[in-house]
Amino acid sequence: MSKVDLNVKIGNLTLRNPIMLASGTVGYGNEISEFIDLKKIGAIVTKSISLKPRKGNKPQRILETAAGMLNAIGLANVGIEKFITEKIPFLKKQDAPIICNIAASTIEEYVECVRMLDNEDGIHAFEINVSCPNVKEGGLQFGNDIKMVGKITEKVRANTAKPIIIKLSPNVSYISDFAQAAKKEGADAVSAINTLVGTAFNIKTRKPILYNITGGLSGPAIKSIALAKVFEIHKKVDIPIIGIGGIMNWQDTVEFMIAGSSAIQLGTVNFIDPTTAEKVLSGLTDYCNENNIEQVSSLTGSYQLN
Ligand SMILES: Cc1cc2nc3c(=O)[nH]c(=O)nc-3n(C[C@H](O)[C@H](O)[C@H](O)COP(=O)(O)O)c2cc1C
Repeated sequence: MSKVDLNVKIGNLTLRNPIMLASGTVGYGNEISEFIDLKKIGAIVTKSISLKPRKGNKPQRILETAAGMLNAIGLANVGIEKFITEKIPFLKKQDAPIICNIAASTIEEYVECVRMLDNEDGIHAFEINVSCPNVKEGGLQFGNDIKMVGKITEKVRANTAKPIIIKLSPNVSYISDFAQAAKKEGADAVSAINTLVGTAFNIKTRKPILYNITGGLSGPAIKSIALAKVFEIHKKVDIPIIGIGGIMNWQDTVEFMIAGSSAIQLGTVNFIDPTTAEKVLSGLTDYCNENNIEQVSSLTGSYQLN
């Protein structure tokens, strides 16, 4: 019997536990629902939605690397109208908080998406993707520009009372400056990190393997970078952090919480073992019980520096 209180708070949203499924790795929740009981998950983050449907980049779009994967999907998605009519009804039935991830190439598009979804009671929060490395417009152009991140946050904030999470890019020198800009303009939390820019070449043809040439690197290869980014934000900015990047198991989850995360997201690992979220939940619960931790939230930022 679990004694530990696993609840965590992201703005005014209380999650039953800190384990979320990361954007782009579980579609709109339906495929993974065959493997795990979504009622046990802290929250599902949807694939990035844009105002209009997007086909994404041409193949090849993904590639396995030594310790992770490169993807250049290019934000392929059904667009907001189909998302509302075809995807939200399924998500609403899941009894799991739904965080809608939004991507756009202009500030107006972000605002329009938030407006269109704000009345949907199936959507509990917004994660604003200002950090996709695989698209020509928006994406990193925004994620690398502090003023732009501040402006997007400000405009989105003015159009919803639901929690706003800004998903930050690691492809910058000081991620905490971006977290600070998001906080100043009213973000409830930041998620860190999105993927790092990487590439790969075929040594026979000497051509890039990905059609898009570069892609986003994810998986265990980026874990220590992600941890350092979370730690940097935690030391400098007082805002809830959702840690993401190479989390494979409950031990990684505990480590991300100690480094400053209030919650975490599982991404690439869902492709390796789609039941990981349930395993992380039971491992985290056992760890707390064995260490007499009454509230999982007390782990957040509990590092001991020399
Ligand atoms: C195939 C794939 C697609 C992704 N699509 C999105 C997306 O649409 N929006 C987004 O914000 N992040 C997207 N991501 C990034 C992940 O949500 C996550 O930030 C990143 O993969 C790091 O976590 P991980 O190492 O646990 O995978 C995608 C990642 C992968 C591997």
